[in-house]
Amino acid sequence: MLEEKYTPINLENTNFFKPLKLSSSITLQHRGVMAPLTRLRNKSGNILDQSTNYLEEEDWKGFIAEPANKTGEKERGLVEEYYHQRSQKKGTLIIIEGTIISSRFGGYDEVPAIFDGSQIESLFKVTKAIHANESYAIVQIVGLGRQADPSILKRDGFSFVSSSANYVAKNDIRNLKQKALESENPLRALTHEEIEDVKTDFIKAAKNSLKAGADGVEIHCANGYLLNQFLDKKVNQRSDEYGTQSFENRSRLFLEIYDELAAEIGSEKIAVRFSPFNTMGDMTGYEDNSDTIAFYSYLYEQFEKRRLNGSGPLYISLIEPRTDEMDVEAQEPDVSNDFIFDKFNGNVIKAGNILLDGAYTKKTISQNDRTLIAFGRYFISNPDLIERLQNSLPINKYDRDTFYTRDHRGYIDYPYYKQK
Ligand code: PHB
Repeated sequence: MLEEKYTPINLENTNFFKPLKLSSSITLQHRGVMAPLTRLRNKSGNILDQSTNYLEEEDWKGFIAEPANKTGEKERGLVEEYYHQRSQKKGTLIIIEGTIISSRFGGYDEVPAIFDGSQIESLFKVTKAIHANESYAIVQIVGLGRQADPSILKRDGFSFVSSSANYVAKNDIRNLKQKALESENPLRALTHEEIEDVKTDFIKAAKNSLKAGADGVEIHCANGYLLNQFLDKKVNQRSDEYGTQSFENRSRLFLEIYDELAAEIGSEKIAVRFSPFNTMGDMTGYEDNSDTIAFYSYLYEQFEKRRLNGSGPLYISLIEPRTDEMDVEAQEPDVSNDFIFDKFNGNVIKAGNILLDGAYTKKTISQNDRTLIAFGRYFISNPDLIERLQNSLPINKYDRDTFYTRDHRGYIDYPYYKQK
């Protein structure tokens, strides 16, 4: 089914299909990126599901019998097949879904993690498939903090922790506070010693991602997860050097992780993600624009300094303050992430409800020669999204009901474009 809200855009005279050298080892052929997307196709043990049971299903056999659905002859594991399809356009940057750094900073059973051998092995299949298409794989690494499920942490013998003992108050749709109290795992602030554990685990997860064949990692500092809980002045009430007394203190943990990791693996392999204006996870975001803009300006300046010293990030990825059907409380329409361009001269990825607005897509990609656009929902429903954009073709609609179902349906069976 085609998306009737979308009018094909002509991107020919924009930077979109102009190659971009991101680092010494990454040259993209276009600026359309696959955004990190949680899909819950995992086996127990936080391992990406690479089973091949789907090959025996009649609906799958019907799918591959259609020549337009050119996924190749090879039999692949489930998650391997999904990423294979979406990296088929040579020189595509694929950001692999949020991957948990360690059990103690995890707390979801159904997402991938990267702290043990089987997790690495399973991820390796994905990076191999992406590389076979001459595309590139970045792994998004994340600690959950106060957005974890406290009962899972309790089951595994870990505390429910954040920068401070402040529960998600607004929009606690998952009832985390109640769960914490019921499972007798009340939220508490990380000790100074445990902050060292956060650093250790991020660094280990990044190295494991490289072992799994990734071209780099994206440190997830957005959407109200653990590192975002240190940046945010509402959540973070610490009085030590990781506290809220200054911008420097708020960003200390994050920058320490970045710098230590850069010293070990090189900054060309490290990207970062922020969602400055979002309130997901009860972050301050657009509720205090002057703090948000001042704080993130400071942070971008820190990255610009590093860039000028030869230790800048691969890119900074920003989630747009643009409303979509998931966040119906409109964010202030007059705020923009664009102040980053006055502070930071490296590569920037923007994501968040961009594609349906053709004029905005064109404006975004044309504003300078270092902007990329990440697509989420339409990369789910269009394995050949980039070809469709290149040829100004219509796109498939997505089915939200199968975003988080566990099998191959709504995952690897979205049709490729079929010439009439
Ligand atoms: C996110 O929405 O950013 C997200 C969701 C689930 C994860 C990690 C990140 O495990």
